Amino acid sequence: MTEPAKVSMEKIVSLSQRRGFIFPSSEIYGGLSSCWDYGPLGVELKRNIKQAWWQTVVQERDDMVGLDTSILTHPQTWAASGHLEGFVDPLVECKSCHLRWRGDDLKDNSCPSCGGEVTEPRLFNLMFKTFMGPIEEDASVVYLRPETAQGIFVNFQNVLNTTRKRLPFGIAQIGKAFRNEITTGNFIFRSREFEQMEIEFFVKPETAEEWFKYWREERLNWYVKLGIKKENLKLRQHAKGELAHYARACDDIDYLFPMGWAELEGVANRGDFDLVQHANASGKGMTYFDDETKEHFIPYIIEPSAGVDRSALAFLCDAYDEEPDKDEMRVVLRFHPALAPVKVAVLPLSRREQLVTVAKQIYADLRQCWMVQYDDAQSIGRRYRRQDEIGTPFCVTIDFQSLEDEQVTIRERDSMNQIRLPIAELKQTLEAKLEGEDLFVLPAGGKVWKVEKEV
Ligand code: GAP
Repeated sequence: MTEPAKVSMEKIVSLSQRRGFIFPSSEIYGGLSSCWDYGPLGVELKRNIKQAWWQTVVQERDDMVGLDTSILTHPQTWAASGHLEGFVDPLVECKSCHLRWRGDDLKDNSCPSCGGEVTEPRLFNLMFKTFMGPIEEDASVVYLRPETAQGIFVNFQNVLNTTRKRLPFGIAQIGKAFRNEITTGNFIFRSREFEQMEIEFFVKPETAEEWFKYWREERLNWYVKLGIKKENLKLRQHAKGELAHYARACDDIDYLFPMGWAELEGVANRGDFDLVQHANASGKGMTYFDDETKEHFIPYIIEPSAGVDRSALAFLCDAYDEEPDKDEMRVVLRFHPALAPVKVAVLPLSRREQLVTVAKQIYADLRQCWMVQYDDAQSIGRRYRRQDEIGTPFCVTIDFQSLEDEQVTIRERDSMNQIRLPIAELKQTLEAKLEGEDLFVLPAGGKVWKVEKEV
């Protein structure tokens, strides 16, 4: 395997559009600024990312439960949380070309587009406003949530009462969030509608520091486990002046995106800020009763907050590779099998009826377990390249010999190695391979298949 190519954003955008990962939103009308639509492969990638996250942080843990709260939340939520007042960015406008910018993004207080003078900054609230009910009046103003977290805080007592969880425990949620960002860009990195995967982990205040460190490591390792190269990830501590209004401390997990290092996920210590604010504003108790010490107190919250879209972008960039292949360049997405949108492609060598019958049978069988593609168009080499470009880990080829010996070929994406094995053992072998077993040593019986290179 050659050194991974440093990929440009143009290549990722082009591949995403060409192969159906991501399209500009409402493209036929010229696109809607900073909104994106996920195509047939993009939706699989996103589902796999969310599934992997849910499995790690909810399914495999005793101390976590899930939640799915509404996007429209009682407006008092946002007054209490400090978002109405504090979720603002400084907006400036160029006096010459009238483009608008975030004041704190400008280096020398001049317009990045034309160099013109900009206005004094005014604070701009990032929450999207809409109206509940048929009459547009102030009383019915509601906001699209800018983070999923608040839905968790306002349900803290509900979860406590219905699950009988004891501290430390967490509540996890995946869902859409909306921010009327002043400047967007870098493809899906910063958009106005995006998805978050958030954990609010409730702990005894004196253990908050320990849990903060724990989650920082845990979350960093999750990306590595799913294939992101260690050298492309780093932790960055927020400076005091940079902290969100609710945070006592925050470390970002930064990824080396094509445009440079930038935040992939934030891990914050929110202290008791949110629960205290909601207790005061709602008049409802937000305390926890410790039945060992017989104390009532408000827990501290450690919050690992990740973006689904930013994760998708990071996984795409990290998986992208190019290598010389005969006279062409082979483009490969080296996705971890758990994230690959398509796990297996079934490729009959020809469209002859007998071959098609066998291939279709294999296809029907395998798709009960995984997302599988059936492709019988063009040469086998071209079909392999098409699958490489979308990151399919395995191709199964059915040839004329298969009709005689009831064997097929599995071809592996990264090494391009091939093995031939009985159809009867195909599913079990693929299952083991997708779970990460060495491709050519079968767990059952320790059999070693003859390995050949793709020709
Ligand atoms: N509840 C805490 C919170 O929302 P944040 O750092 O503002 O913290 C968490 O957002 C994560 O959500 C970010 O690390 C990023 O992955 C994602 N995110 C935030 N704003 C985004 C945007 N405009 N577009 C895409 N993803 C965004």
